[in-house]
Amino acid sequence: MEKTYNSMLSLMVVLCLNACIATVECKNLTDHPRRSLLANAIGLTPPMGWNSWNHFHCEINETMIKETADEIVSTGLAKLGYQYVNIDDCWASNQRNSKGELLGNEVTFPSGMKALADYVHDKGLKLGIYSSAGYPKMSRALRKADRPIFYSLCEWGWGEVPKWGHMFGNSWRTTGDIVDNWNSMITIADLNEVNADMQDRVHGMAPLLIGCDVRDIPKETMDIIANEEIIAVNQEERMMEKRMKVEERMEMKMKKIEENMKMGKKKMEEKMEEGRREMDILLAFMEEMNQRGNNSREK
Ligand SMILES: *[C@@H]1O[C@H](CO)[C@@H](O)[C@H](O)[C@H]1NC(C)=O
Ligand SMILES: *[C@@H]1O[C@H](CO)[C@@H](O)[C@H](O)[C@H]1NC(C)=O
Ligand SMILES: *[C@@H]1O[C@H](CO)[C@@H](O)[C@H](O)[C@H]1NC(C)=O
Repeated sequence: MEKTYNSMLSLMVVLCLNACIATVECKNLTDHPRRSLLANAIGLTPPMGWNSWNHFHCEINETMIKETADEIVSTGLAKLGYQYVNIDDCWASNQRNSKGELLGNEVTFPSGMKALADYVHDKGLKLGIYSSAGYPKMSRALRKADRPIFYSLCEWGWGEVPKWGHMFGNSWRTTGDIVDNWNSMITIADLNEVNADMQDRVHGMAPLLIGCDVRDIPKETMDIIANEEIIAVNQEERMMEKRMKVEERMEMKMKKIEENMKMGKKKMEEKMEEGRREMDILLAFMEEMNQRGNNSREK
């Protein structure tokens, strides 16, 4: 737990290049490009994943990012919902290309960021990447992309971001950096308390991002981050959705039983009617026989 990263602090634009959950959702995004980013049908539950800053700071490179992605899958963390592999600061080159576009650091990311994104996506995970504040412009730019992109605002909690963050991003950090000691954690919890009321109103969420070296997780740490009950608390709405689904299924089953019963009742009534008709025929037959008997006796 010591290295666990408070993702509220995470400074990133998360490029979830695989995020078109359903074509309908993608279509809605294009239909209503001016809607709040929260309506991009992603980030409805707190994002789960990993972020490089807490443990590695600037000591990052494409090899360890790939290995981290490998481990997130092989440890089973991906299956539990940890899907974002977030590269924090220090990935970029100081130079831009001739078109003025950002470039990855050629020494630490020699294959380029696109190749790394492809690698991570091929594992069924999503790639996140960091840049500093510039939120309305970035928000507009991301809205123009051909797929929903999770946008985590980074303005370090200045300027009362909980009041307006939802207009530009899917989440927003509310404080400065956390460090891995108790005091830092408590201080940040206190700082976030003032936002509690606001969080309720604007779909409050606390991302669940692992901050340690996933390639070397001690068992006691793994037991915590892989604890499905803890994850369930964090992902409450996803769980509620599941519960809803169960209730819907129950309702459907009840309806089916009711239908069967109605069907059975109808069948039973039909059988009784049939029996009644047979009984009438039998009675008529017996009467007929009786009559015939009387007739022959009278003769
Ligand atoms: C997308 O649009 C369709 C049709 O307008 C609507 O039925 C559906 O609920 C929308 N979905 C979302 C996630 O907004
Ligand atoms: C990549 O980063 C990791 C973690 O900081 C480090 O152990 C490793 O030596 C680096 N590899 C290269 C090729 O720079
Ligand atoms: C046949 O005769 C018996 C005895 O005489 C009588 O009770 C009965 O009603 C008669 N049945 C019919 C169908 O006429």
